[in-house]
Amino acid sequence: MQNVLKTLHTEHAHICRVLDFLEAQLGVLEQGGIPEWDLMGDVMHYMTNFPDLYHHPKEDLIFKRLRERQSGAVADIDEILAEHHELAGMGSRFRAAIQEVECGSVMSVKDFSKMARAYIDVQRRHVELEERVLFPLARQFLVPDDWQEVDEAIESRSDPVFGSMVKDEYKLIRSALVD
Ligand SMILES: [Fe+2]
Ligand SMILES: [Fe+2]
Repeated sequence: MQNVLKTLHTEHAHICRVLDFLEAQLGVLEQGGIPEWDLMGDVMHYMTNFPDLYHHPKEDLIFKRLRERQSGAVADIDEILAEHHELAGMGSRFRAAIQEVECGSVMSVKDFSKMARAYIDVQRRHVELEERVLFPLARQFLVPDDWQEVDEAIESRSDPVFGSMVKDEYKLIRSALVD
């Protein structure tokens, strides 16, 4: 019944690996080096096309059900649901900024870094709150019928970077992040 929580937990580990990679690239940039812009672009393409489209919607189903079952968690749930929208917007802007830099537009390291670090920080806090507070509450308060409804409503997609079938466009980041 709760296999979806295991999947979400695995996806969090993948998201954290992506954040570690982005943070390392930012470190290179901030120290005056040249980060791997193309890989950062691929990574943000992945973040805006897999976690934003298939990870957060699964959580939305669970957290909306939890909201009905556990009124004490409403503040945290509402914060997390709002962050799913916020993160999608921040991720799109981050991705667009990488594309602009690659196309030669001038953006200061300070501005780029500030935007990128804000994205990484919100993502990290977000995952931490879900793992520490919301997943345990969901495990505790959702009933078998809830899990069945969640399972039926989920659009299940294999992860195009970390799954068994890697999309061609992600082969480079798969090598950088996994192999
Ligand atoms: Fe989330
Ligand atoms: Fe999550």
